[in-house]
Amino acid sequence: MVSVAIMGHGVVGSGVAEILTTHKKKLFAGLGEEIYVKKILDLREFPDSPLADRFTKNFDDILNDIEIRVVVEVMGGLKPAYDYVKRCLKAGKNVVTSNKELVAAHGAELLSIAKEENVNFLFEASVGGGIPIIRPMSQCLVANNVDEVAGILNGTTNFILTKMIADGMQFDDALKLAQDLGFAERNPAADIEGHDACRKICILASLAYGKHIYPDSVHTEGITKITLEDVKYAEAFGCVIKLIGKVKKLDDGRIDIMVAPMFVPEESQLANIDYEFNGIMVRGDCTGDVVFYGKGAGKLPTASAVVADVVDCCKHLKTRKFLYWTDGDGKNILPINESVSAMYVRVLGSDIMAKAAELFGTVTKIEMADAESGETAFVTSEVAYGEFTDKIKALESMDVEVKSTIRIGDL
Ligand code: HSE
Repeated sequence: MVSVAIMGHGVVGSGVAEILTTHKKKLFAGLGEEIYVKKILDLREFPDSPLADRFTKNFDDILNDIEIRVVVEVMGGLKPAYDYVKRCLKAGKNVVTSNKELVAAHGAELLSIAKEENVNFLFEASVGGGIPIIRPMSQCLVANNVDEVAGILNGTTNFILTKMIADGMQFDDALKLAQDLGFAERNPAADIEGHDACRKICILASLAYGKHIYPDSVHTEGITKITLEDVKYAEAFGCVIKLIGKVKKLDDGRIDIMVAPMFVPEESQLANIDYEFNGIMVRGDCTGDVVFYGKGAGKLPTASAVVADVVDCCKHLKTRKFLYWTDGDGKNILPINESVSAMYVRVLGSDIMAKAAELFGTVTKIEMADAESGETAFVTSEVAYGEFTDKIKALESMDVEVKSTIRIGDL
């Protein structure tokens, strides 16, 4: 029997307790041992839980219990998760977490402590919810140099955009629905401003390139400025709008990494990933494109990935899994102003195509039957972002109101 503790009994934590209870026999068959939930840490009361007798409000009950070999951290946030996880690792306990904020902020340090203590620190659920991605990247694709990773990494924003595209639903109504369904973060700004997707692409980039990438050093845009007009122009251009996290290795060794809404061509594998589903494309130099798809948010999908890590820890109590990266200083990141892509621009004003051609050279007008009066949308050819923003300022000085700009994804 292996004793485990779960820190946090929210959406994911209760899902972990549920799976460990309902799937007990199945897990026993695979592991050859029982996984026993000895303690659950939460400040709230859960008198109706079948595990009501295991709850504690005191972290020391877990830290000081030498029988507890695996600790699951599903509290979310950094305080007190960071401190608790560090202390558990230093006490020689294996730790499993779904906490992408924690891994993105302190992954290199926690992996290093885990290495020193000869224990495992696993976080499959931190990216892509129920989709296996950390283990495939660190094990199955290990023979590859990863040229690029691009994905829809946030279920809440994908749900909102899908509702806007498929049902013409307004942004706020779609967000409320995502919150009611339990996909959104406690503070949904982390979803809609792109920070959650940023943490996830940072984790994947750190894993792919071996050096920690901190979220602060990554250009991040959310979806709050996307309107139904943009959605319709995208459709007229044969695209859908998706919030994309991507990282690409450049020939000079630097990486081009960002989170931003993008026009995704309808024929792209990422275009038909809808609602709370996530999709992640990993381009390996040996494999070519490998695409992972599944539910990226929600109680049981995320808990499924956590429990898989718990089983992995139980199987490797005396061995370390190879999952590691070192600290990074951000010097390998391409400045966003040098990042190149074609851009969609929606404006209000007169004589737009002539002005746009004067500034951007070749531009393509997007024809849309029910365009708002006085409004024009066009797509530029590939341009560095710094040059693009300068030219947008020049366009504004020509008596043009710029209503929206969105990258055209090369996906
Ligand atoms: N809020 C996150 C999402 C939860 O919507 O994807 C899963 O990380």
